Amino acid sequence: MNTKEIKAYGTESAEADLKQLQINRRVVLENDVEIDILYCGVCHSDLHFARNDWGMTQYPVVPGHEIVGKVAQIGEGVSKYKVGDIVAVGCLVDSCRTCQNCKDDLEQYCPEWVGTYGGYDKHLETNTHGGYSETIVVDESFVLKVPENLDLAGIAPVLCAGITTWSPLRHWNVGKDSKVAVVGLGGLGHMAIKLAVALGAHVTLFSRSTNKIEDAKALGAHDVIISTDQSQMEHVIGKFDVIIDTVPYEHDLNPYIGTLTTNGTLVIVGYLGPIDPMLVTVPMIMGRKSVAGSLIGGIAETQELLDFCGKHNITSDIEVIKIQDINTAYERMLKSDVKYRFVIDMKSLKDN
Ligand SMILES: NC(=O)c1ccc[n+]([C@@H]2O[C@H](COP(=O)([O-])OP(=O)(O)OC[C@H]3O[C@@H](n4cnc5c(N)ncnc54)[C@H](OP(=O)(O)O)[C@@H]3O)[C@@H](O)[C@H]2O)c1
Ligand SMILES: [Zn+2]
Ligand SMILES: [Zn+2]
Repeated sequence: MNTKEIKAYGTESAEADLKQLQINRRVVLENDVEIDILYCGVCHSDLHFARNDWGMTQYPVVPGHEIVGKVAQIGEGVSKYKVGDIVAVGCLVDSCRTCQNCKDDLEQYCPEWVGTYGGYDKHLETNTHGGYSETIVVDESFVLKVPENLDLAGIAPVLCAGITTWSPLRHWNVGKDSKVAVVGLGGLGHMAIKLAVALGAHVTLFSRSTNKIEDAKALGAHDVIISTDQSQMEHVIGKFDVIIDTVPYEHDLNPYIGTLTTNGTLVIVGYLGPIDPMLVTVPMIMGRKSVAGSLIGGIAETQELLDFCGKHNITSDIEVIKIQDINTAYERMLKSDVKYRFVIDMKSLKDN
C-alpha cells in the first residue's frame, strides 16, 4: 500500500514524554478524505492511553481524537466533501457497518469499532494514530461537517468531551423539566453543563473545588455542591433525575446515588475499572435507581451535536497551546489546572 510519511507527536513508552515522531498515513483510497489538521483537543483519555493507565496500550502511541481540519484531498468515490471543506473527526474512524449496533447508528458499541488512535488500521495493518499529527486519512463515513459560524479551535472538544456527555443526556431524555447533576468540572464536565443547560435542564455541579463555583455559574450551572461537604450533600438528597459522573479516577459513588430521585440514573463516563468502595444496593432498591455507563457517541449523533452547537452557538472554553507544550499540559490536567480544555494549534508542529 502507498503511504506518506508525516510528522506527529507521540510516545514510545508509558514512562517517556511525548516527542516528535514520524508516522505513515495511507494515500487516499476511493472513499477516503485526507485532512490537514488545524486543531486537536487534549482529552484526559489521551493521557490515560499514553501512560497505559488502562493496561491495553501498544506503542508507539499518537493520541488525539478531537480533530478539526481542512480537506486536502479526496478519493474518487467521495461525495460528501470537497477539497477546502472544514471538517472534523472524533473518536471513531471505522466500524464493521453491518452489525445491529452499526445499523442503529451506535458504531461506538460495534465489537469491531476502530478508535482514532490505538485501534487496528486494516489498511496499514498497524495501530491507528490520532490527531497530534499533520494530517489524517479517514473514510468519509466517519468524517463530520463543522458548522460555519463556530470558532474552529473551540469546536474541537465537542468531538469527544461534547459527544460523551451529549449522548447520555439524549439517551436519558434530558429536557426542560429535568434536574441534572454533573460530577467534576473538567473538559467533559464543562461541556455537560453547557449542553444540559441548552437542553433546558436545571443543572447542578458537584465539585471538590470551592474555587470553581464562579466558573460553573458562568458556564450556566444553577447550583454548585462541594462534594466533600457533608451538609451540602445532605441538602440535595433525592434531587437529580440524571447524574453525569466525569471523574477519571476511583471514587465513592454511594454519596451520589443518594442524591438521585426515584427512577434516577447515575451515568459513569469518566472512570474505567472496578468500583471501590463497593456499591450499597439499599438506596438503589428502595428508589429504583440505576448506575449506568456510556461511551462517546455514534457518527449521526455526533453530527446532531455539531449542528446543535452551531444553532446554539456553543463551543468549548479552551486554552490554546503549542504541541511542544503537551507534556506540561498533561501535568496541568492531572492537577485540574485547565479552563477547561487544552486545544493544540497544530501549526506549531511545523516549527519542530
Ligand atoms: N466514556 C467515554 O466515552 C469517555 C470519553 C472521553 C473521556 N472519558 C474519560 O472521562 C474522564 C474525564 O475526562 P476529562 O477530559 O473531562 O478530564 P479532566 O478535564 O481532567 O476533568 C476531570 C475532572 O474530574 C475531577 N477530578 C479529577 N480527579 C479527581 C479525583 N481524584 N477525585 C474526584 N474528582 C476528580 C476534577 O473536577 P473538580 O475539580 O471539579 O472536582 C477534574 O476537573 C477521563 O477519565 C477520560 O478518560 C470517557
Ligand atoms: Zn476523549
Ligand atoms: Zn458493527
